[in-house]
Amino acid sequence: MSVAESEWTRAGAGGGASVAVERVRRVHPGPVVAVEEISLTIEPGEFVVLTGPSGSGKTSLLSLIGDLDRPTSGHVEVDGVRIGGHRDDRFHREVVGFVFQHHHLLGHLPARVNIEIPLVGAGIGRAQRRAAAETLLEEVGLRHRGDALAAHLSGGERQRVAVARALANAPRLLLADEPTGALDSEGARRVLELLEESRARRGMTLVVVSHDAEIGRRADRVLHLRDGRLAPYGPPSSRAGETLVPRQAG
Ligand SMILES: Nc1ncnc2c1ncn2[C@@H]1O[C@H](COP(=O)(O)OP(=O)(O)OP(=O)(O)O)[C@@H](O)[C@H]1O
Ligand SMILES: [Mg+2]
Repeated sequence: MSVAESEWTRAGAGGGASVAVERVRRVHPGPVVAVEEISLTIEPGEFVVLTGPSGSGKTSLLSLIGDLDRPTSGHVEVDGVRIGGHRDDRFHREVVGFVFQHHHLLGHLPARVNIEIPLVGAGIGRAQRRAAAETLLEEVGLRHRGDALAAHLSGGERQRVAVARALANAPRLLLADEPTGALDSEGARRVLELLEESRARRGMTLVVVSHDAEIGRRADRVLHLRDGRLAPYGPPSSRAGETLVPRQAG
């Protein structure tokens, strides 16, 4: 199925998006196999943590789920709609949001303007953008810092602005790649709480790459990657009584 406008409109009724990864491989020239072959499903509104050693393919898998990269073979469906065949602006504008380890904010612009940027792309008028940024600043606990240049914020504050920016388009799927990797434990705790609260409030699906054991304990499910594959058995899942067995393709 291609990503047609009507499909995202229908899917956009609210709540979290479902994700289906079907026999996805990603091979870079070399060849370097970043993702060996992965199949998994994520339920609407689920909170999944992706963990594993450096180079195991976590960022690669997240990028494929978020349509920042294309599989060499296999495919990804979000709400039953296949992504990745071609770049789909609506998917990026209305369905998915990203938070990266290094916030990628524009340092010379105030926090509130950074948050408004995705809304400019979505064609929202100035007054409405302002109001939305105000609400988001409040949501991430930074109402008093809206006028500060991003470059003048602390690492933790920047990361909270990055979360606000990712939430600006009300994504139903939020993908975060080591969002607390550059923070001290207090800053990390606040960002994690923020992600959890936002998910609870908005009902969105949340996938977080993290080595943080604390976030793993709070997730619905922890997926372990190793050498581009889902480890067949991770440590006991945070879902009580469940043994973690990834769905096998085929
Ligand atoms: N664009 C690329 N070109 C070539 N190889 C790549 C590319 N992107 C990733 N890789 C390789 O794919 C493998 C998986 O990389 P990836 O970045 O997904 O790992 P990761 O689990 O996110 O690691 P880390 O914890 O260090 O962030 C690595 O061997 C990496 O070198
Ligand atoms: Mg990575």
